[in-house]
This record gives sequence, C-alpha cells and structure tokens, in this order.
Amino acid sequence: MGVLSGKRGLIFGAVDERSLAWHVAKRCIAEGAHVVLTNTSAAIQLGTVSELAAAENLPLIACDATNVDELRELLRQTQELLGGKIDFVLHAVAQSMNLRRHKPYEAVNYKYYEQTIDTSALSLHKLLRVAMEEDAIAEKGSVVALTYIASERYFYGYNDMADAKALLEQIARQFGAIYGREKGVRVNVVSQSPTPTRAGGAWKEIEFFYKYSNHLSPIGNADADDCAGVCVALFSDLMQKVTMQTIYCDGGFSKTILTPELVEDYRDK
Ligand SMILES: NC(=O)c1ccc[n+]([C@@H]2O[C@H](COP(=O)([O-])OP(=O)(O)OC[C@H]3O[C@@H](n4cnc5c(N)ncnc54)[C@H](O)[C@@H]3O)[C@@H](O)[C@H]2O)c1
Repeated sequence: MGVLSGKRGLIFGAVDERSLAWHVAKRCIAEGAHVVLTNTSAAIQLGTVSELAAAENLPLIACDATNVDELRELLRQTQELLGGKIDFVLHAVAQSMNLRRHKPYEAVNYKYYEQTIDTSALSLHKLLRVAMEEDAIAEKGSVVALTYIASERYFYGYNDMADAKALLEQIARQFGAIYGREKGVRVNVVSQSPTPTRAGGAWKEIEFFYKYSNHLSPIGNADADDCAGVCVALFSDLMQKVTMQTIYCDGGFSKTILTPELVEDYRDK
C-alpha cells in the first residue's frame, strides 16, 4: 500500500529516461497509482518514451498540449482507460526555440516567443479549462506543474522561458482558486533545481550552472528523484490543504546568497 494507492494519474512530458516526468511516473507507480503517459507524437517518435511505457505496461497517448481538441480527447481516453475520473495530473511541458537557437532575449524571434508561451504556460490554462468543462478531475484532485526560479529573478540566458514560467505560476494560482472553489482541486507548482534533461540542457552555459547552483544550495541541487518525491506528496491525500503554492525543491538555493563553497570557488580568481 503506497500513498497513491488506487489513484489515477495523467502524466505529461516524459520523452526519455532523463525526463522529470518519467521519474515522477515511476515513483507514482511505486506508490500504487495507475498512470497514463502523454506526449506529442513527434516526441513519442523521436524519444524513448514508448519503450519506457511498454516496459512498465503503461498506456501512452499522443497529444499536443497546446491543442484544446486533442486535450479533450486525451482526458476522455484517460478516464476510459483508468476507469474513472483522474485524481492527479503532472504538467511537465516546456519548449523554447529561442533558447534552442541561442537567440538573446533582446532579439527574440516573436513567432518562437509566442510558441514558448503557448507550449510552456498557456497549455496549463487549456488543460485546466478543458478538465473543468469535462469534469475530468476527481473531487480534491491534485495538479502539479513544474517551474524554475527564473520566473521571479533575472537569470542570464534563460530567455523567454523565464516569462513563460512567470505566467505558468500565475495560471496555477488563478485556477487553484477557481478549481478549488468548484471541486476542491489543488493546483501547485514545483520549482525544481537545474536537472540534466533534454529541456534542461537547452541553455548553452548549463554545465557551469549545475555546479554554481549546487554550490549555492546548502543541501545541494535536487535531482529528478527529489522532484518525484515532492510531486508524489502533492498528489497524495497528505497535502489536502496545500494549493496555489510554489514549492521549492532546490536544496535551499532560493533562500541563499552565499555559501563557503562559493567563496572557495571564487577566491583568488
Ligand atoms: N530540467 C531542469 O533543469 C528543470 C528545472 C526546473 C523546471 N523544469 C521543468 O520541468 C518540465 C519538464 O522538463 P524536463 O527538464 O523533464 O525536460 P524534458 O525535455 O524531458 O521534458 C519537456 C517535455 O515537454 C514536452 N513538450 C514540448 N512541447 C509539447 C507540447 N506541445 N505538448 C505536449 N508536450 C510537449 C516534450 O516533448 C518533453 O517531453 C518543464 O516544464 C521544465 O521547464 C526543468
């Protein structure tokens, strides 16, 4: 018996074994949940998620999270496959062509910028709106989206994804109030340490930053399993009154200005 025993979950964003969503999915299954995975058909073709899903015997449904009709069909199929309303959802969806193509923030391609906002933030709005319209999430269900602290602070190179994360967090708060009032559904975001994944590796200075972040985090960077643990706790009945929050899974990074490790790194340089 795990803390998610018998619960039904829908997990967006696993593309390969490094994906935060994949770690969350595995942990949910270990805690007794029944899980459906979803990603875009391109990600399913290019990544290894179909092999991962087959190995764990998990249904995998193609869906573009920016497309309302596909989201509606996804929620319908998920409920059919799992045999009832959905208890928890992980939104682990992000992409920025400006980041990938190394366009500086002050010279972004606006078409890419719109895509970044649509994919990485508006997709949460669309998902929650359709879920409410279809009454797809169970009473007191739990929705978690993944974010990064660049939503609140200037972070050189994080580019338009910082804007998307700020919007994502605000959408989570708005729907946390609306869906909470309607059905007691909780909506939170987990602000995760930098983690080596496909999306996490899009920034060109990332290797330097893993080290810097680790040295500025009193208990070290959180890894993908740490993220999975926080998500499982938020999906469980142990967090029934926690909603509209940003939960930092970052080893203390967000509350730290200087550590002895950083002094060591920079002394005499
Ligand atoms: N890795 C990090 O350092 C880090 C830190 C904080 C937050 N996050 C967030 O965690 C989430 C998951 O990212 P990750 O690091 O596991 O990388 P990842 O590349 O494994 O996951 C990103 C996923 O988004 C999916 N996606 C992109 N466009 C989509 C669309 N239109 N519809 C549906 N899915 C789409 C991709 O296919 C991919 O599976 C993202 O929101 C990311 O911003 C990551």
